[in-house]
Amino acid sequence: MAVPVPSNKVRSQHLKNTNAHGFHLEYSEKKSVDEILSTPTGKYELSKDYPKGKNRLYHADNLGVLASLLEDNSVCGKVKLVYIDPPFSTAASFESRKQKHAYDDHLVGPAFVEALRERLILIHRLLADDGALYLHLDERMIFHFRVILDEIFGSKNFRNCITRKKCNPKNYTRKTYGNVADYILFYTKSDTYIWNRPVEVWDEAKAIKEYQYIDVDGRRYKKVPIHAPGVRNGETGKEWRGKLPPPGKHWQYLPSKLDEMDARGEIYWSSTGNPRRKIYFESSAGIPIQDIWMDMRDAHNQNIHITGYPTEKNPALLTRIIEASSNPGDLVMDCFAGSGTTLATASKLGRQWIGVDLSEEAIKTILHRFMHGTERMGDFVNEPEKAPSSPQLGHSTFVLFNEVKGNHEFMKQNDIKLCPPVSIINKSEQGILFNIGNSHLNTLTSVAKNSTNIIKPYTSKESFTKILLSDAKLA
Ligand SMILES: C[S@@+](CC[C@H](N)C(=O)[O-])C[C@H]1O[C@@H](n2cnc3c(N)ncnc32)[C@H](O)[C@@H]1O
Repeated sequence: MAVPVPSNKVRSQHLKNTNAHGFHLEYSEKKSVDEILSTPTGKYELSKDYPKGKNRLYHADNLGVLASLLEDNSVCGKVKLVYIDPPFSTAASFESRKQKHAYDDHLVGPAFVEALRERLILIHRLLADDGALYLHLDERMIFHFRVILDEIFGSKNFRNCITRKKCNPKNYTRKTYGNVADYILFYTKSDTYIWNRPVEVWDEAKAIKEYQYIDVDGRRYKKVPIHAPGVRNGETGKEWRGKLPPPGKHWQYLPSKLDEMDARGEIYWSSTGNPRRKIYFESSAGIPIQDIWMDMRDAHNQNIHITGYPTEKNPALLTRIIEASSNPGDLVMDCFAGSGTTLATASKLGRQWIGVDLSEEAIKTILHRFMHGTERMGDFVNEPEKAPSSPQLGHSTFVLFNEVKGNHEFMKQNDIKLCPPVSIINKSEQGILFNIGNSHLNTLTSVAKNSTNIIKPYTSKESFTKILLSDAKLA
């Protein structure tokens, strides 16, 4: 494996230049950050059935919720971890295992990018300075969001692009490789962030293979080089014990430190007089987790317990993320909550949470999960009403907010299946003023054709098409 020689000068220059605005993704509907930060807040009322608890669940469009949380001092700047698994731009609709409509994933291209970008800009504001974002997508949109998140978080705050094996191998008849991966982008708000290094516990065979040698006192160890790439002009570039570091390299430690290590017996000298460092097995907390996750597949056999909500993720995946990037008591948010995997896992790990989902089926699933737990995947096929497993969360641990009748409800009642990035600018007696990208005019017109509303498009000075949707039923 080739080891690159780091040049701190080039790297810091590069980061300085590319921190916020190295590359841009250009598309016609891209709003200014200021416009997004002035997104109107939503209005929510507390459900009588779930009025008490330290965690919050919103049944609402997350755009208005995120905007309203910006004004909430107990949340804004205090969220330590956001994991989101939004629709992946599949141009499909999703049903639960009990054939209930769950959600539509119809946004594609720039409309999808802008809808998610708006939310990410608000999320960035809500994060604490030591907070982190994990964005889960697949090959359709992950590359666009590497660029978008560099714009929002700064490329220097990019940490990983994790590849996850999502399912078992597929027997494709298509002339392509089987598609078993999806991706998680990990960004932090700053370079001082919460990090509890996740490790895999050693098994004996692996430990013996990796730590092959046994010291005089019986301790197992491995040998690693004591030099690193790059030439240095200081003490680490000079002779130690009559030996220069190999060409193009420097000693990893100052000669005085190397002397101390040698005195403690931590240096192994080869028969040809080359020093190597001994790393003892007992000092290893485990095998550090790398950025390819093979053991986090979503439910893949009939015995695994699930909620039955489509696209629900493996709780083990959330356990790893939540443990690595938050501490007990921290506030965790998932504003595309689905079946509530993040929320249930956060609860189990002693974190506080905020969850949001637009879908009625998602909210029903989350409530069911909290009250009754999950069910064997096999039971959805043969015995759909089988009793669920043990309860996971008490009734009084969270409050439920419903979106106040208006925006979303209004559209639902009128059978207007509007897709974001439409945002409501103003509501008056004349109707509702929407801000939409030009390319959505046709979509809006066609989806609303069965309603009795009058659609009046006009172009504003920001060159967005605005739509006045007059509604006789609007109070
Ligand atoms: C892929 S699913 C999330 C699955 C979840 N990670 C789990 O483990 O169950 C995406 C969810 O985002 C929700 N969603 C889509 N657009 C939304 C919006 N604008 N506001 C709130 N939720 C939204 C959908 O209803 C759906 O439940």
